[in-house]
Amino acid sequence: MYDSGKIIIGIIIFIALFTFPTWYLFTSGEAAPMPDLVYPENEDQKECVYSAEYMRASHMDLLNEWRDIVVREGKRTFTTTAGKKFEMSMTNTCLGCHSNKAQFCDQCHNYLEVNPYCWDCHVDPSQLENQ
Ligand code: HEC
Ligand code: HEC
Ligand code: HEC
Repeated sequence: MYDSGKIIIGIIIFIALFTFPTWYLFTSGEAAPMPDLVYPENEDQKECVYSAEYMRASHMDLLNEWRDIVVREGKRTFTTTAGKKFEMSMTNTCLGCHSNKAQFCDQCHNYLEVNPYCWDCHVDPSQLENQ
């Protein structure tokens, strides 16, 4: 039989270790100040797919979900729980609004020492314009 108590303790320790860099940086007084993120400015770009709180915590899960639906099911339209529709595209949708990737995605990731490898394949449109 499984010992559910040990499993739960194991999961808690795993989560604590796994998220350590994040909460250490957010709570430690010695950490560098939170970077100044640049947000979309157009009136029709004022609302993210979900709330900022949700996005902050779960954008990686949302992107994984989008990838799975696009690649496995071939569907490209995502409907939020509020009924809003978005094309499931990191380049067109996320970077369509967050067009300043360097001062949004990258700033936050650099600060938290996260380094998504997605851009080996996916396009950052601002880089195309600069070339
Ligand atoms: C080795 C190349 C490669 C890497 C690395 C990669 N992807 Fe993809 N991804 C693809 C391909 C190919 C598709 C399918 C493209 C299509 O059908 O539009 C895709 C599709 C997607 C889609 C849905 C369609 C789109 O254009 O956005 C999402 C979302 C996505 N990937 C997220 C990610 C994320 C997040 C990462 C990093 C954690 C990542 N991918 C890393 C190759 C890659
Ligand atoms: C229609 C425009 C739009 C789209 C599309 C969009 N965002 Fe956003 N996003 C925003 C705005 C505006 C905010 C700030 C919202 C706020 O403060 O209430 C935001 C907030 C966020 C945040 C939280 C930032 C913080 O302050 O901590 C993250 C992370 C994020 N977006 C990632 C993404 C990702 C990843 C995608 C694609 C899956 C995406 N966004 C698609 C407009 C957009
Ligand atoms: C407010 C800070 C913040 C912003 C802004 C932000 N991210 Fe992140 N992102 C994170 C954190 C923190 C993680 C790591 C979470 C973890 O390790 O569990 C992460 C992880 C990811 C991952 C998964 C990486 C991996 O290797 O598993 C992807 C993909 C990603 N972010 C894409 C984006 C994109 C695209 C944008 C801009 C549209 C963006 N993020 C903006 C904080 C942010």
